[in-house]
Amino acid sequence: MSDIRLTINGMEVVAPSGSTILEAATLAGIEIPRLCYDKDLSPLGACRLCVVEVQGNRLLPASCVTPINEGMIVETESEAVVEARRTILELLIANHPLDCMTCDKLGDCKLADYCYKYGVSDTPFYGDQHFYDIDDSNPFIIRDMNKCILCGACVRACEEMTGQDNLSYLGRGFDRKATTASDVDYIDSECVFCGQCVAVCPTGALTEKTMHGKARRWEIDRVRTTCPFCGTGCNFDLAVKDGKVIGVLSNPEAPTNGRSLCIKGRFAWDFIYNEKRLTTPLIKKDGKFEEASWDEAFALIATKFNEIKEKYGPESFAALSSARCTNEENYLVQKFTRAYMGNNNVDHCART
Ligand code: FES
Repeated sequence: MSDIRLTINGMEVVAPSGSTILEAATLAGIEIPRLCYDKDLSPLGACRLCVVEVQGNRLLPASCVTPINEGMIVETESEAVVEARRTILELLIANHPLDCMTCDKLGDCKLADYCYKYGVSDTPFYGDQHFYDIDDSNPFIIRDMNKCILCGACVRACEEMTGQDNLSYLGRGFDRKATTASDVDYIDSECVFCGQCVAVCPTGALTEKTMHGKARRWEIDRVRTTCPFCGTGCNFDLAVKDGKVIGVLSNPEAPTNGRSLCIKGRFAWDFIYNEKRLTTPLIKKDGKFEEASWDEAFALIATKFNEIKEKYGPESFAALSSARCTNEENYLVQKFTRAYMGNNNVDHCART
C-alpha cells in the first residue's frame, strides 16, 4: 500500500493510502473529537463532531469517513471547525438530560468531555424532548434512551462484534431510536447480555447496572486480569474502588478478545464475594470438616499421596487438570504426575 503525504495543522503527515483524515491525524498524534467513530467498528459518519476544514472544500467534511489525498491541507481546530462543533454539541444537549451530577457515566462520557472542552453548558435550541422509560428490566444493563445520541455504536457492536444483531434503528427524524426489534426491553429481546453495547456507548445511555451508585468513574482503579471462566484467556480490567471489585470493564488492548466479553466474563464477577466460598482449607476429622491451616492441608495431601504410591504403586495415581487453570498450573500438574508420582496418567477436562 503506497503512502500519501498531507498537511494537518501545519504538520507534514505521511499515512497509508486509503486512510481517512481521522486515521491519518491519529497516526500523527493529533486528536480529533469523535462520538460515533470507534476504531473497532465500521465508520458511520453520523455525529459530525469530527468535522475538519480542508483547503479548497467549502464544506466541513466528517474526518472519520473522508479519505486522504496527496497534498491535502487540513485544519482540525480552525475557527469554523470549532464553531461547527459547538453547534453540534448544542444540538445534542438540546434533547439530552443534563443530570451529569448524578449520571454514573460522568468521567467516562465523551459528550460531557467535549462539552467541557468547547465550553458548551447550555443550548439555544429549545423544542420537544424525549421522556423514554428507563429499561431496568435485567440484572446487568441499564438502558436510558433519553441519553442516547444515536451514534449507532451499540447497533454496530451488536452486529459486528457479537454477531447477535439484536439492535437496529426504529422510526424516523425526532422519533428515531436505536433499539431492539419491536422496541421491547432487553430482557424480552434476543440480547445475550455480553455487554459489548455498554463497552462502546460514549454516553450514559448504556451502563453497567452492577456499578450503579458505587463510584464516580475517576475513583475507579483498573486492574487488568484474565477471565477465570474458561480457557479462552480473555483479558479485562477489574473496576476496583477502595480495594473492592465493583465491576468489569473492557480493555481495548486485550490480545485475545479486544473489548469483547461474554455475559459471564463481564457480569458474573460477583462470585468472588459469595459468602459460601471456601477461604480456608477443611480437613475431615471424625466425619466432620474442621478448619485447618494451609501447612496442615499440604502436609496431609503429601502424606496421603506417598501412602497411595507406596501401597498401590505409581499407576494407581492419575491427575485431571482444567482449562480454567493457567498454563503454568497445568504444566506443574503434569510435571508433578510424571516426575514425582511416576506415571503419565494426566488428562484435561477440555479434551472431552
Ligand atoms: Fe465522525 Fe461521528 S466521529 S461523524
